[in-house]
Amino acid sequence: MQKKISPSILSADFARLGDEIRALETAGADYIHLDVMDGHFVPNITIGPLVVAAARTATNLPLDVHLMIENADCYIDAFADAGSSLISIHPEACPHLQRTLQAIRDRGVLAAAALNPATPLCVLEHVLNDLDMILIMTVNPGFGGQKFIPAMLDKLRRLQAMLAAAGKNIPVEVDGGIVVDNIRTVNDAGADIFVSGSGILNTPDYGKTITTMRKRLAA
Ligand code: DX5
Ligand code: ZN
Repeated sequence: MQKKISPSILSADFARLGDEIRALETAGADYIHLDVMDGHFVPNITIGPLVVAAARTATNLPLDVHLMIENADCYIDAFADAGSSLISIHPEACPHLQRTLQAIRDRGVLAAAALNPATPLCVLEHVLNDLDMILIMTVNPGFGGQKFIPAMLDKLRRLQAMLAAAGKNIPVEVDGGIVVDNIRTVNDAGADIFVSGSGILNTPDYGKTITTMRKRLAA
């Protein structure tokens, strides 16, 4: 599967958000990752559909929208209307997971489930046909700049075994603490799409960092 890099704008300068997104596109990003937090599911509040719609006007790249919110069902239409290309929801906050994934697809948007580090893979067992991507959180969601949790490497390996046993080829995204120095190890454990916020945006040259990440992935 072709490897992809999805920079998270959580670490961007929000006063210059359009410029930051354009800079990431020029730097070679494959997607733009947007972190939506509601102050309930996670202990932080970030952006809503208005900012996703603004991001949509700044780039043609696919918008990879990560909803860390309760009551996601109520907001699917708003995030689809805002121009999301892919929406990830958390099963921990979605009692009717299959219905919510289907509601995303019904809007013509790709649907993904995002699992917190302590959430077992088996929650996905009966919704594999409803998933366009699986997001494995490699930190506890809520903040940028946290440290990668090493136990997630084994979770990625187990996920790949589970997908192989089911005969499914679903892209796996990782999110949290991904930097140049660990991207290869995480890749080898079974990740296809790499979200990186501070690992890219806290470096002086986004293009150079993304190029180095790609070299590590190819080496
Ligand atoms: C964490 C968010 C991440 C975050 C990643 O809750 O879901 O997308 O921006 O940031 P880094 O790459 O700095 O860990
Ligand atoms: Zn995220």
